[in-house]
Amino acid sequence: MNEVNGNRLSVACGGLHAYDIVWEKDFHAVSGELAGLGLEGRKACVVTDSNVAALHLDSFLHAASPVFKSVTVFSFPAGEESKNLDTVRALYTRLIEESFERGDCLIALGGGVAGDLTGYAAATYLRGIRFIQVPTSLLAMVDSSIGGKTGVDFEQYKNMVGAFYQPSLVYMNLSVLLTLSERDYRSGMAEIIKHGLIRNAGYYSWLMTRRQEILDRDYEALLVMIRESCAIKRDIVERDPKEAGERALLNFGHTLGHAVEKLKFPSLLHGECVSIGMAAASLISARRGYLSHEEYEKIVRTLQSFGLPVLASGITAQEIVEAAGHDKKMDAGRWKFILLKQIGDAVIDRTVTREEAADAALEILKS
Ligand code: GLY
Repeated sequence: MNEVNGNRLSVACGGLHAYDIVWEKDFHAVSGELAGLGLEGRKACVVTDSNVAALHLDSFLHAASPVFKSVTVFSFPAGEESKNLDTVRALYTRLIEESFERGDCLIALGGGVAGDLTGYAAATYLRGIRFIQVPTSLLAMVDSSIGGKTGVDFEQYKNMVGAFYQPSLVYMNLSVLLTLSERDYRSGMAEIIKHGLIRNAGYYSWLMTRRQEILDRDYEALLVMIRESCAIKRDIVERDPKEAGERALLNFGHTLGHAVEKLKFPSLLHGECVSIGMAAASLISARRGYLSHEEYEKIVRTLQSFGLPVLASGITAQEIVEAAGHDKKMDAGRWKFILLKQIGDAVIDRTVTREEAADAALEILKS
């Protein structure tokens, strides 16, 4: 474990402080944080989806509105289908109609879709205005709200258009996690288990020993876990903000996972597909002799014990490999596959063959 303490973590970009991640039990501290960024008296546009708006918009506005001259709310239909240039266009139109200037800000209140599309609009409107991440899903808290990846899907291609653009603040109210469905919560656990597997064997073991409290969403367990996952991601994105190298390790489980996601959309959630992809990548790691077969089986059992799937159905190995071949994480036509040298130590491997991938895909299709 990194032994992160307190309720704040600083994130740097290019060696300079870029933003803080703040963890709280509610939204009460958000106004002080926003005022500290010099946003007093400016305009804000809160971008949120229809589900999150119904649950958290009122309490967020109650806490945040006093800081601003005015606040407008841009709400879009919940779901990945909204993560496209049409939604961004509608948001630009709203910002222009309401005369948003460069000193004003956007606030993403929601999961990964809200964060990614708001960040992309913020990166491009007037060549860049400030934006705040207020993630409300477990996945957005530990992954997509940190590190400045913003963007939207284009046609059938996921995250194909985007920009690296850092938020000014990431504010997490951990109590909102109590409103997540069991399935959404467990889906977020896939990225957390990933952090242990790629970077920190001690954290991976801790997750297993605290499994029941984590599944019960015990506040103290959540705080320790989210802080640790954010710290692991922070360390990686600080060293490699634009994915020139090490940041690709965060894509463990994503090469085949994204392929399954594409083929099974919308029946499987992102984290569920990452779980299936991690099982496959761990199998390839074991077949390469990096992990023992027992370690591979233990990874599978861990994923299952957090309620995550490791098998897919209704698709073929050939379809998975074909879909993975169109992944944007390719490099000169080769997969940048992430394998585990050992638990807590991942590597980028450009030598995984279609045959190895197809054999692993066959394994995740077994019923
Ligand atoms: N979600 C992977 C990354 O931020 O690089």
